[in-house]
Amino acid sequence: MTGVGGRRVLLGITGGVAAYKAADLARLLVKSGVDLRVAMTEAGTRFVTPVTMQALSGQPVYTDLWDPRIPDNMAHIELSRDRELIVIAPASADFIGKLAGGLAGDLLSTLCSARRCALMLAPAMNVEMWRNPATQRNVAALRDDGVIFAGPADGDQACGETGMGRMLEAGEIFDLIQGFFAPRLLQGRRVLITAGPTEEPIDPVRVITNSSSGKMGFAVARAARDAGARVTLVAGPVSLDGPAGVIRINVRTAEEMFAAVQNAVPDCDIFISVAAVADYRVKRPATQKIKKGNQRALTLDLEENPDILAWVAARPRPPFCVGFAAESENLAEHAMEKRAKKRIPLLAANLVHEALGADDNSITLFDDRGAHPLGRGAKGELARRLVEHIAAMLDVK
Ligand code: C5P
Repeated sequence: MTGVGGRRVLLGITGGVAAYKAADLARLLVKSGVDLRVAMTEAGTRFVTPVTMQALSGQPVYTDLWDPRIPDNMAHIELSRDRELIVIAPASADFIGKLAGGLAGDLLSTLCSARRCALMLAPAMNVEMWRNPATQRNVAALRDDGVIFAGPADGDQACGETGMGRMLEAGEIFDLIQGFFAPRLLQGRRVLITAGPTEEPIDPVRVITNSSSGKMGFAVARAARDAGARVTLVAGPVSLDGPAGVIRINVRTAEEMFAAVQNAVPDCDIFISVAAVADYRVKRPATQKIKKGNQRALTLDLEENPDILAWVAARPRPPFCVGFAAESENLAEHAMEKRAKKRIPLLAANLVHEALGADDNSITLFDDRGAHPLGRGAKGELARRLVEHIAAMLDVK
């Protein structure tokens, strides 16, 4: 069970093609232990059926303000009172307009109007409908009222056009819901994170690099953001989007990563070095592509890259430093040695074959008190446990 287990959420579905993603969102929420109720507008039921949503949520689905199953005929009160969050996905332009105008003529808009809990909207509409000044006015008014917006995103739309208005994917909305419920353990802290590999050019097409998807570093950035931190993420070349709400600086080489870290580190309280930095770079990369020729062997003249983490940890007043170590064997021994050598308070270690490119990982933390296995789990979940551990260490300092 993740950090949202036991939370009480109402998922509202309005009319839009993106309603099919709501089925996936319901599955993710239920799988993670959320107590889920579903309510749909009449238009919503045209895109995905109440039967589907009932099967996925394991609960009766509500569509009618006059539902006879609610004993006192107060469905809008009954269904909203015990909820901690209402998520409308998809939220159509029409529904957003209704909410902004305070209209409450059907079950879902009445539920939103009568709620005492937070409201998150995941808009989904055609690009011109999203750009329409009336929609933009409505969105601005709802934001002012404290409504949380999840998206929309830019991209291909079901209508064949391209632009803003596409609903976020189910996983992205789920991620934002997890963020909503995360305890603000790092509120007000400034966190600097490095992630992904670095690429050291040999010639204009060839590079020396490390295998690293960047997934773990990005998960740590999300977890720190969700914990209330202001996050700067220095990312090597990875094919990952976002994370939203994080300052992202893209770099290629270790020297570029070092420069970005040097620039950002005076303004940070916590430095988490997840990047798989290349230890060496080619001394003089060729300006033109090296031709194969006849030689049977090729020698590259390498020089050492700066150890970014060790440099940060050796600063006069260093931030709280966390290192990552990917080992192929003798995990504990290598991890403890590395932590001592780099003089850092906390090191997260994993075995390479368990982590590379995967969505799951298995991590053990090493600090002054010894080894703390975080167990096996999704990288997002392990990142949350890491943030908890960091917050606990900072609290006792
Ligand atoms: O490569 P190594 O196992 O020493 O990496 C351990 C930690 O040091 C990682 O957190 C990594 O991000 C960091 N590191 C670094 N600069 C390097 C090499 C490693 O910041 N040149």
